[in-house]
Amino acid sequence: MDKIAVVGAGMVGRAWAIVFARAGLDVGLYDPDGRAVQDALFKIALAVQDLATEQLIDEEPTAVLARITAGTSLPAALQGAIHVQENGPEDLEVKKRIYAELDALTAPGVPIASSTSGIKASAFSEGLPGRARCLVAHPVNPPSVVPLVELAPAPWTDPDVVTRTRALMERVGQQPITVKKEIDGFILNRLQGALLNEALKLIADGYVSTEDLDKTVKHGLGLRWSFMGPMETIDLNAPGGLPDYAKRYGPIYHQVNKESVPRDWDERLFGQAARDRRATLPMEQHAERQAWRDRRLMALARQKKQAAKEIGD
Ligand SMILES: NC(=O)c1ccc[n+]([C@@H]2O[C@H](COP(=O)([O-])OP(=O)(O)OC[C@H]3O[C@@H](n4cnc5c(N)ncnc54)[C@H](O)[C@@H]3O)[C@@H](O)[C@H]2O)c1
Repeated sequence: MDKIAVVGAGMVGRAWAIVFARAGLDVGLYDPDGRAVQDALFKIALAVQDLATEQLIDEEPTAVLARITAGTSLPAALQGAIHVQENGPEDLEVKKRIYAELDALTAPGVPIASSTSGIKASAFSEGLPGRARCLVAHPVNPPSVVPLVELAPAPWTDPDVVTRTRALMERVGQQPITVKKEIDGFILNRLQGALLNEALKLIADGYVSTEDLDKTVKHGLGLRWSFMGPMETIDLNAPGGLPDYAKRYGPIYHQVNKESVPRDWDERLFGQAARDRRATLPMEQHAERQAWRDRRLMALARQKKQAAKEIGD
């Protein structure tokens, strides 16, 4: 049975361990902090139970958990691994140290992928003897429920490493995309940033309430986005397809884009939205609402799986 090394057992490392184990692979889960290891085993067991309740795993939770071996020895976690998924702290200096250690200890040719949300692969792999096997594989949290993973190689990453990582992600049920050239924010956060920058301005400048802004996405744009992307959306939204859409509506978008001036993310920009959110959801109810979000997300994932079987994807 193939084995994956999951390095760093925080929020994201724990979810990756579940992704690989539920796909039938062995997992060596490592964290230098013994308490983090214990905490991870406890939280992984709870999360796997939740996935079973939502019918997002096809076997007994104990069978999934039995494939995960966790500990504080890095060589033990790396032993025999065909892929390394790094999930250490989001700090460039720490990533550089972890990568130097991983490159020295991991068998030659084995891809070493980082879950980093925003550090380019070139920033932590330059100068390493094995830099050609290093890349970013950025998940959306938690990858055990949200399947997208952005593969972002450095200019010197071996294309075969990207191909093999893409194949592995597909094998374990994730949905990989490839970022063809290094860019800040990769793809997902650039798209999310474009929407957030505009949304915060519209609220701060008094055009819409925070509640109505959220309604616009959850009852409007977001409905389609949960099963098709914006390119397919605009292609289907004009009788003559995408060029027709561009001709009809392009001038509006161009005007909006011309008016757009970058703003700092300070209190003047996000203050109104932050106050409105606290009035709607007091901090004491924050954790409870997060649990509600996770349940909704799992229910949606189950529906999408079912709809893909019935209608096609
Ligand atoms: N949290 C998110 O929403 C999210 C989403 C996508 C990607 N990421 C990325 O995933 C990575 C991990 O984020 P997280 O939210 O799980 O953080 P976290 O703080 O929950 O976990 C980090 C873990 O790394 C461990 N660690 C510390 N030093 C280490 C070392 N030398 N080697 C290995 N592990 C070490 C810590 O003990 C801790 O358990 C980050 O790079 C982050 O940017 C996070």
